[in-house]
Amino acid sequence: MDLMNVIVLILAGFWLMLPAYLPNSAAVLFGGGTPIDFEKSWKGHRLLGDGKTWTGLIGGIAAGTALGFVQIFIALPFDDQNFWGFGVVPRAMEIVLVLAIGSLLGDLAGAFIKRRLGLERGAKAPVLDQYNFIAGAVLLSLLVFPDWFIGAFIEGEHLISLLAVLMITPLLHRGVNIIGYKKGLKKVPW
Ligand code: CTP
Ligand code: MG
Repeated sequence: MDLMNVIVLILAGFWLMLPAYLPNSAAVLFGGGTPIDFEKSWKGHRLLGDGKTWTGLIGGIAAGTALGFVQIFIALPFDDQNFWGFGVVPRAMEIVLVLAIGSLLGDLAGAFIKRRLGLERGAKAPVLDQYNFIAGAVLLSLLVFPDWFIGAFIEGEHLISLLAVLMITPLLHRGVNIIGYKKGLKKVPW
């Protein structure tokens, strides 16, 4: 395998995870409404906290799915749609929806764990903060579309795509959050 091949696999991993990356940033823009947990607490701590809202959840999923649809649309003129990795319509549309939903479910699971650990909304939780959404997208798509996930991220050289995503994600997460913080969209730079 040559370098060109490796670069393509790295870019493919990033491309295929875009519908899972966008929801997290989009949720910041759509947030501010009613909390998903309706302000309910459990054992002295909020179930999820004020950082997880219905508008953030729905807006984030819609944004990630819309981006996925654009990606599928971009790939349409190419005969072999599998080159772009989401496969053929309509399953491709279901895959990007599952990636977007999985991403924000992972984010909710992360918040649930943080509250159980007694961490307030926005508190730093290394590893959890950077990987919750990608873990959610990976697990849900593996569950709903195992053939697709294994073919795109696990089988043979495609494992390089998964490793690339795992290495790029913390850097990307940090970078985007610093931008969000500087623009006054996020309260903390993480
Ligand atoms: N957000 C939202 N709804 C979601 C996810 C995120 O409204 N389902 C918005 C909130 O305004 C949140 C911001 O996006 O504050 C940043 O998201 P994140 O860093 O995940 O939340 P935190 O505020 O850090 O809260 P937590 O400690 O629960 O992760
Ligand atoms: Mg946070």
